[in-house]
Amino acid sequence: MKIIVANWKMNGNFEFADKFVEEINAVDSKNTIVVCPPTALLCRFHSFRYYIGAQNCYCEEYGAYTGENSPKLLKEAGCEYILIGHSERRHIFQETDDLIFKKWQAAIAQNLTPIVCIGEKSCDRHNWKQAISTQLNSFLKKDLHSSIFAYEPVWSIGTDLVPRFDEIETIFEFIRDLLRATVPLLYGGSVSSQNASQLLNYARMDGLLVGRASLKINEFKRILIQ
Ligand code: 13P
Repeated sequence: MKIIVANWKMNGNFEFADKFVEEINAVDSKNTIVVCPPTALLCRFHSFRYYIGAQNCYCEEYGAYTGENSPKLLKEAGCEYILIGHSERRHIFQETDDLIFKKWQAAIAQNLTPIVCIGEKSCDRHNWKQAISTQLNSFLKKDLHSSIFAYEPVWSIGTDLVPRFDEIETIFEFIRDLLRATVPLLYGGSVSSQNASQLLNYARMDGLLVGRASLKINEFKRILIQ
């Protein structure tokens, strides 16, 4: 059984969410399916038969943090998973490794399953070991038994460029060695129905993190039934 996570980013609306819930509820998949819509759409997922997740959270429980959502509130809104440190959070919103680690702690404290996103930028492509080690540094020697990690090379997001499968395997091995834990490891970056089954079968991965392809219902269905 694999974990397939849909990250809608800042896309979708009420009408699309309702259609998505209806159509995906009709899919029988042996995989664990998690959908992360924008926060304002979580209320449309009450009848969803699979899991929902948040795309982000803040690291405090309550307080004067205008515009933020706490893991506690997201849990109350029905989330069981939460993306932490997505590259768009790191690069557009300047989230640091330190803040990302605090968000991970806050999510764990609410019994949410964090999906920690890591991956090198295109300028670090030949120096990926250093980039990934830095992002993972705070997580070493921590109890990771309820966490998921997702390797998403930044240069692959939204570009239709996918690393070679042997490259992904090498990087996965590096991540597993570094974490010294058997955490589920997902791949994300230009996943489509064309490459999903090869990715899932070839590279010893536990699942996929899907962006654009999760916004086309038929395309996403094809990925779910791999
Ligand atoms: P794409 O699948 O659109 O490349 O996005 C990947 C991603 O960022 C998922 O979190």
